[in-house]
Amino acid sequence: MSAPFDLLETDRLLSTTRAVRRRLDLERSVERELLLECISLAQQAPTASNTQSWRWMIVTDAQLRAQLAGLYREISEQALPGARKHFARDAQTERVYDSAEWLGQHLHEVPVLVIPCVENRFGPSPDAAGAASLYGSIFPAIWSFQLALRSRGLGSTLTTIHLYRADEVAKLLGIPESMTQVALLPVAYTRGTAFKPARRPPPESITHWNRWQDEGPVA
Ligand SMILES: Cc1cc2nc3c(=O)[nH]c(=O)nc-3n(C[C@H](O)[C@H](O)[C@H](O)COP(=O)(O)O)c2cc1C
Repeated sequence: MSAPFDLLETDRLLSTTRAVRRRLDLERSVERELLLECISLAQQAPTASNTQSWRWMIVTDAQLRAQLAGLYREISEQALPGARKHFARDAQTERVYDSAEWLGQHLHEVPVLVIPCVENRFGPSPDAAGAASLYGSIFPAIWSFQLALRSRGLGSTLTTIHLYRADEVAKLLGIPESMTQVALLPVAYTRGTAFKPARRPPPESITHWNRWQDEGPVA
């Protein structure tokens, strides 16, 4: 098959961009230009009605990072043990929770904290299409940003628990009320750049052809 891209490299990027926490290099600073380059690539992502309504809040100031991380730590200590009980049904997920709890204790040491936001807020009764359109106009860009970081030797993790106290974070950073915060990503160079694909079930087990009910093998 002749492909327009080097599939070995693109597939390696897509299959090894992991949630990185413990392997973030907490000692090395990250260049502003590099972050802007990754945002520029993320701006190629799709948005509903071509709104391009994304905004990127980047926190590098040590004092602000410490305050933000203080909030994050409190939420992490409150929320993660219960979530672990509910969701951790296998060793892989137990490891994710170990790593997530570690992040809660060390977030203040991460050199860059990125809060992707999207312009607009939900009205009083959000519907499914409105929700998909609002969040769908930022998550593809977040993933592109994470892929661009990975291809340059940096790592990140998409986290959302700070949103339990999004109003306090907005006040701390002066984020206007018209913005919806969507995530918080710790960003740093990684210690080493070799990451493995994660174990996932075969795609056939999560794919439905034509009708939801399994048709069985096609002759
Ligand atoms: C919507 C969403 C919310 C997430 N929230 C958190 C979070 O609050 N804290 C955290 O450490 N990781 C969070 N993650 C990262 C997941 O734990 C991670 O993507 C998943 O375990 C897969 O890990 P892997 O990329 O290493 O395979 C979140 C991921 C998504 C997609």
